[in-house]
Amino acid sequence: MRLPFEHQPDRDEQEALAAEAIDSWNAYLRRFPKTKDRDRDRRLVEWSGEGSLIRNIYGEEFIDCLGGYGIFSLGHRHPEVVRAVKAQIDRMPLHSQYLVNPITAEAGRRLAEVSPGDLKRTFFCNSGTEAIEGALKTARLFTRKSHFVSTQNSFHGKSLGSLSVTGRAVFREPFQPLLQDVAFVPYGDAAAIDKAIRGDTAAVILEPVQGEGGVVVPPDDYFPKVRETCTRRGVLLIADEVQTGLGRTGALFGVNHWNVVPDILCLAKALSGGVIPCGAFTTTDAIYAAFHANPMFHSSTFGNNPLAATAASMAIEITVRDRLPERAARLGEGLLERLRALGARHPEAIREVRGKGFLIGIETHNESIGGALTERLFGRRILVAYALNKPEVVRIEPPLNIPEPYLDRLVEALDASLKELQS
Ligand SMILES: Cc1ncc(COP(=O)(O)O)c(C=O)c1O
Repeated sequence: MRLPFEHQPDRDEQEALAAEAIDSWNAYLRRFPKTKDRDRDRRLVEWSGEGSLIRNIYGEEFIDCLGGYGIFSLGHRHPEVVRAVKAQIDRMPLHSQYLVNPITAEAGRRLAEVSPGDLKRTFFCNSGTEAIEGALKTARLFTRKSHFVSTQNSFHGKSLGSLSVTGRAVFREPFQPLLQDVAFVPYGDAAAIDKAIRGDTAAVILEPVQGEGGVVVPPDDYFPKVRETCTRRGVLLIADEVQTGLGRTGALFGVNHWNVVPDILCLAKALSGGVIPCGAFTTTDAIYAAFHANPMFHSSTFGNNPLAATAASMAIEITVRDRLPERAARLGEGLLERLRALGARHPEAIREVRGKGFLIGIETHNESIGGALTERLFGRRILVAYALNKPEVVRIEPPLNIPEPYLDRLVEALDASLKELQS
C-alpha cells in the first residue's frame, strides 16, 4: 500500500487493500501459530472511525460497543480533539525536552483541577503500563520500602514491573523472576489487604472496578476500608484508573464513587481523547518530592509531548463540560437493567450481568458461548470483546457519548443472537 492514502478507495482498491492487509498482518504481525478462517476474513479490515461507528474497508458500519477497551470514551475522531491536535501538529508536535512547553503545562494544570483531593503533580507518559511503572517506582522511592499488595485477577499491564503486580499467573510465569515482593489477595476483601500488609509494604494497588478481571464491581465499603487500612498502616494506595478513569464508570474517576482519595492515581486510555496515546500518574506534592534527590530517577523521552498533552487537555475539558460521566451513569444503569432482563430470559447462556456506568460485563457459562455471542454480534455489525483475564465475560464499553438508539440496537442484537444460540 502506498502511503499516505488520502482518497476513498474504489471497489477494486478495497479488495486489493483488504487482501494485502490480511496477508501482511498474518505474515508480519500475527502471533498465533496457525491462521484461523477468521484471520482471512477481509471484513475485519478496519478503515475509518466516526463517533460511535467504525467502518471497515468496504464501508460497512459497526457500532463500537468495545470502545478500544476504554480508549474511545469520546468516540472516534471527536472533532474538537482532532482540530486541536491538528493545530498542534502544525505548530510543534513534539517537544524540545529542554524548554518549557505551555501545552503540556496546561494539561498538568487541568488534570490537577479535576483530580481528587490534593493530587496535583503529574508525570505524563505514553501508556497504561508506563503509568503503573512510574507509580510503583514512586511508591518505592517515597516509602523506601519494596513490597506491594495487589489482587487476584487484576490487570495492571505487561511490562516487567506492572506485570509483577498483575494478578494472573498465566501471564507472569513465563517471565519469572519478576519483582518477587508482591502478595495477591482476593479482590473485594479489605480484611485480606490488612492481613497481607507487612512492615516493608510500599503500596497497595487496586482497580476501582476490575476490568480485564471480568468487570468485577467491589462492595461499596471496599475502597473506604482499604483507604483507612493504608492510612493506618502507613502504606500508599495506588488507584489504577487506566480503564476506569475519565468517566467510564459513571464518575470522573472510579474512586469518586466512594469519595476516596488515593495517594497515586494512574490514567491512560481515555486520556488520549481517542486520538493520541497518553498516560499519566498523578500524586501529591509530598510524594512527588521523593524525586527531589534526583529528578532523573524516572523519565520518558516522549512523556511530556504536546500532541498527547493537547489530546489529554481536550479529553478532560470535553468529558467534564459535556457531563459525560453523569450520562454514562444514567444510561449505563438503564442498559444494565435491560441486559439483566435479557440474561434472566437466557439462563442457558448467561450467568450474570454486572457493571458500573459504561463498563459492563455479561458473564456467560463458558468461553465458547462468550465467543459465539461476540461473533454473532459482529455479524450484526456490533463490536464487543471478551475480558482478558476472564474470557467467558463479554464486555460492553461504548463511547460515553454513544447515541441512545445504538444502545437499543445492541440490546436487540444480543436478544436475536441469544435466541439463535439457543436454537
Ligand atoms: C486497569 C489497567 N491497567 C493497566 C493497563 C495497561 O495499559 P496499556 O495497555 O496501555 O499498557 C490496562 C490495559 O488494559 C488496564 O485495563
